[in-house]
Amino acid sequence: MKKAFVTGWPISHSKSPALHGFWLNKLDIAGSYEALPVSSENFPDFLSTLGNSEWVGGNVTIPHKETAFSLIKNCDAAAKAIGAVNTLWIENGDLMGGNTDAYGFSANLDDFAPQWRECSTALVIGAGGASRAVIYALAEAGIEKIRIANRTVSRAQNLSDHFGPACTAHGLDETSDLLADTDLLINTSSMGMSGENTDQVVDVSRLAATSIVTDIVYTPLMTPLLAAADQCGLKTVDGLGMLLHQAVPGFEKWFGARPEVTEELRQRILGVA
Ligand code: ATR
Repeated sequence: MKKAFVTGWPISHSKSPALHGFWLNKLDIAGSYEALPVSSENFPDFLSTLGNSEWVGGNVTIPHKETAFSLIKNCDAAAKAIGAVNTLWIENGDLMGGNTDAYGFSANLDDFAPQWRECSTALVIGAGGASRAVIYALAEAGIEKIRIANRTVSRAQNLSDHFGPACTAHGLDETSDLLADTDLLINTSSMGMSGENTDQVVDVSRLAATSIVTDIVYTPLMTPLLAAADQCGLKTVDGLGMLLHQAVPGFEKWFGARPEVTEELRQRILGVA
């Protein structure tokens, strides 16, 4: 039986076991996917034993994504650009690291707002780890202007320098002015997660009527930003689909079948506490 895992610290709240468990069941595959708590102290040893273990691979989440990238020799292009690994697999005995977050972000928009690929100016709020995957996805899709606005401007500047000439860095105080010609707005910051209101920072009524607004935060599903955008009649895409889609390439590598992201799966994962 093939066995895969998700490791993080803590890991008990991860929805990944329910997600992969759903697919294993649906596709009638004799495999398992379990949550494996590994502390930061033990993570390097854990990685070094994987090539000769019972595991076929797994996912890596907070706080190990950047450490995994720094320790794994064989990383895919996305992991290299993003500087973080979220998916591990074994190839000819070698441990491989990949990053599927950017794929998950793009596939979610492809599902719910496929016209996003026609957008010319994106505004990304936030410049943390999650923002890197989003900016990589936007650059890969050929979005002409990628504006990064963050509370700490130096972090936005670092990302802008890293991802190249399509990007510019801004403070949050500039967002109002930037909104007028933004056609794709993405929140990657943790604002809104703790009940804080993003609408003090982002006045979505300044966006053109055809703009798309998405939030990669999915707890709550309807973030204050999405609620405000919805009230203005704008197209909104919640962040749950990014979680669901980022899991597809890993599942396929470990278990040999490409699973589908469906409404049934969405509803099942929404019901997981
Ligand atoms: P992640 O890896 O999930 O992106 P992170 O690296 O801690 O997490 O980044 C969180 C992001 O949310 C950052 O852009 C952070 O802004 P700073 O770089 O200035 O810290 C942003 N953020 C968190 N709380 C915020 C708040 N109350 N107001 C504005 N931005 C906030």
